[in-house]
This record gives sequence, structure tokens and C-alpha cells, in this order.
Amino acid sequence: MIPKLELHLHLEGAAPPAFIRAQAKRKSVDLSRIFDEQGNYAYRDFTEFLRIYEAACTVLTSPQDFHDLTLAVLEHSAAEGVIYTEAFLSPDFCGGGDLAAWRDYLAAIETAAATAEAQMGITLRGCVTCIRHFGPDQARKIAHCAQETAGSFITGLGLAGDENMLKPQDFAYAFDAAREAGLGLTAHAGEWGGPQAVRDTLRDLGVSRIGHGVRASEDPRLMDELAEAGTVLEVCPGSNIALGVYKRLKDHPIDRLRRAGVKVTVSTDDPPFFHTTMRREYDALAETFGWDAPEFEEINRNALDAAFCDADTRAKLAARLEAP
Ligand code: ADE
Ligand code: ZN
Repeated sequence: MIPKLELHLHLEGAAPPAFIRAQAKRKSVDLSRIFDEQGNYAYRDFTEFLRIYEAACTVLTSPQDFHDLTLAVLEHSAAEGVIYTEAFLSPDFCGGGDLAAWRDYLAAIETAAATAEAQMGITLRGCVTCIRHFGPDQARKIAHCAQETAGSFITGLGLAGDENMLKPQDFAYAFDAAREAGLGLTAHAGEWGGPQAVRDTLRDLGVSRIGHGVRASEDPRLMDELAEAGTVLEVCPGSNIALGVYKRLKDHPIDRLRRAGVKVTVSTDDPPFFHTTMRREYDALAETFGWDAPEFEEINRNALDAAFCDADTRAKLAARLEAP
């Protein structure tokens, strides 16, 4: 199996529905409304997706829950051939957003990551993530969580949530604080917003990576600029199809972006919500665009270069890519 690197995975968004159902049952919380008859997450559009995502998080109430979630998620990823994952971690969703307990939650996630690395050979790094629709003041607090815990495990700051709300500029303080702490920077943009959203995000937040960014494909000049600057796009094709950004994979711009010289990578975003896995993403790209070893090697190299991990980790991953 091809070894894979994934840069864009939301830890809570990767929670298997059965895991959330079990937590809900244990805590006597009725979450039946967020599942369909087959037991999968049920939503009709992006707004509803965000709502049920947050409802699912309400049953993740202790560091132990996050320990167990991390192990479950990494087990799934390792089985897909993933050797490195950067996960978005949201202090807002840890135990109802008690930021004073962030370090305890993080310690539990790190313990699980160490176990998974020893037992399954998968490396996890964390990217603390602000939720856009919770607003700039909350984002400042989240950036402080990131600043305080920045190190070999917490390597970045991200921005997720409803792209239709607020402007990148509103989050400049949070991103400036994270930059000062030496963290890598990424923000979701160009998923629901057009090319201008990508331009504004690059200008106002100074990120090296864009979460999604696929709508940049609507502006050839912007594609040239991204290629020139070496900006990396964390592309999540299955997510875009499931949420209706594009109808079918053949309409998706990932291959056009790559051919235009933009550095693309491939991730699953929130795999159980979108009925995807890394293997399914790779298989679909091979089938739809004829991608083969050279293309997959290229996206893995892009991911390796753009990963927010330290040099030692990067060198170890490079060796594993060369001799899987
Ligand atoms: N949080 C989890 N998945 C997301 C997505 N696709 N867009 C914005 N925020 C998210
Ligand atoms: Zn995302």
C-alpha cells in the first residue's frame, strides 16, 4: 500500500458514528437526531453539517474520551496506510470549551498518539484550531492555548468553521500571536468563498497553507500566484463532493490546480461524515484523473515539505517514503 501523509483532518470530525453513539449512551444524551437509519451522520447542507458536528462533540466530555477518540482515529488512519497525520484540535470542543482544562485534554491526546506511534507506526501532530463562527475574541483565547502549548507536538494554528461569517482580517491578532510562537499557519478558505477569500486570507493571516483553497481555480492569475509563492492547498475532494461544493469528482479542480503548478495535497477532512477514507480518495483520483505513482509521490512530497513538524520528524518520514 502507498504510504500516505494527511495534513487536513479534524480530530472530532473523524469520530466514527459508533464511537459518538457509545459516548452518548453512556452519558444518557439523546443524539438520535444526528444519525440516519443506517447509523451514519445525517445532514443536508454545510450549515446543518456544522450543527450536527457540534452536537456530536457535546458527548466528548473528558480527557479520557479524547484519548480513546485519538486512538480510534489513528487506528483507522494507520489501516489506510497513513504514516503521518496533522489533526486539527479544537479546544472549543474539548469538554464544552473549558479552556482551563486544555492542557489535560492535550496530554490525553498526546498519550494516545505515543501509543499509536509505538504500536502502529503512525505519527500525529496537532494544529490548534479556532472556530470562525465563534468569533475573534474566542479565537484570541484559542491562539493563547496554542501559544502556551506550542512545541514538538502542537505545531500549528488553524481556522475552521463557517467561512461565510466574518473576515480573515478579524483573526489577524490570533494568527500574529501564533506566528510569534513559531507555529505553522493554515486557514480554511476558498471552500465556500471564492478566489478573493483565498487572496484575503493569504494577505491578512500570512498562512503558508490553505485548507481547501479549491475555489482559487476560478482565477488563473491567482493560480499562478499560488504556484509562484509555493502556497500549499490541503485539498479534500471527497469532502467537497459530499458537501456539494462540486457535483462530481470529474468536475473537481484538483488536477487542474496541480497541472497549473499549484502544490496540492490530499486529505479526508472529516472522513465518516463524508463516507471517505484516504484509500478511497486515492482510488477515486486514480480512476477519475488517471493518477498513478508519479502523481501520488508528488502530493506526498508536497505534504512532507509543508508539514508543520520539526526537521527530525520530517527526515524520518522522508526515509519511510523512500523505503516503505
Ligand atoms: N470543520 C470541519 N470540517 C470543516 C469544513 N469542511 N469546513 C469548515 N469547517 C470545518
Ligand atoms: Zn476542514
